[in-house]
Amino acid sequence: MKRIVYVNGEYVTEDKAKISIFDRGFLFADGVYEVTSVLKRKLIDFQGHSSRLSRSLSELQMENPLSTEELLSVHKELIEKNNITEGLVYLQVTRGAADRDFAFPKSATPTIVLFTQEKTMLGNLSSKNGLKVISIEDQRWGRCDIKTVQLLYPCMGKMMAVAAGADDAWMVKDGKVTEGTSNNAYIIKGNKIITRQVGNEILQGITRSALIRYAETAQMIVEERPFTIEEAKLADEAFITSATLFATAVVEIDEVSIGDGKPGSRVKQLRELYIEESLKTAI
Ligand code: PDD
Repeated sequence: MKRIVYVNGEYVTEDKAKISIFDRGFLFADGVYEVTSVLKRKLIDFQGHSSRLSRSLSELQMENPLSTEELLSVHKELIEKNNITEGLVYLQVTRGAADRDFAFPKSATPTIVLFTQEKTMLGNLSSKNGLKVISIEDQRWGRCDIKTVQLLYPCMGKMMAVAAGADDAWMVKDGKVTEGTSNNAYIIKGNKIITRQVGNEILQGITRSALIRYAETAQMIVEERPFTIEEAKLADEAFITSATLFATAVVEIDEVSIGDGKPGSRVKQLRELYIEESLKTAI
């Protein structure tokens, strides 16, 4: 079945959607995006994603083509039109089409595109078996806090992981883990959940913020500081968070098993806590 997608104010079937070849998203990766998960037909943490979108746009001096209310209504409309019970809504805003020039055009109308993707989120294989990761050098640019569509290095990292028989890669900068190719990275040691502090080196995950909030409310201790791959290999448990994977265990790092090599009890508890709490505010 063809999906109904949203392009610059219109709902069209996916084969009718058109974007200019001069779009700066296409030519320069001059655009930002958000991925919001859908559970039980509802959006998880829409407010968080919408606020981060505004921040990404403002960091790049781009206009937000729609208000938060309009954005929400497009998200809801797409879930309805495509009958999505579980999956995600992808949103992308680019600076728009203009003659190719490195300098930002004085006047360009932003391009906005949204589409849905069905996906098993609750009972997927990785939630049962956990993920194997390899470590790679973080060779991305210096503003990883902006959620831009320039994702080539993360794609390459993912392919390095696949070639090594793993699922994903954790990136390392100056000897310390920054984050996963498309997720935030954590270890658990003793009674502490350890994850890198926010800054330009990582994306401030919306799932990360919520999980830390829920964990602290449940009296768990969260320490925000960098850690090394060596420290991670000696951790009791390890995991990642993202809008599409919630909290998912990491059971192997560079072929070294974490704990007993199976998803641990505390990651399972955090995953359940995250899903339960975020469903309470889903819209
Ligand atoms: N990725 N770090 C990076 C580099 C990411 O690309 C993502 C999200 C995250 C987690 O952020 P959040 O919890 O807000 O999803 C961290 C999305 C899911 C993607 O690119 O598909």
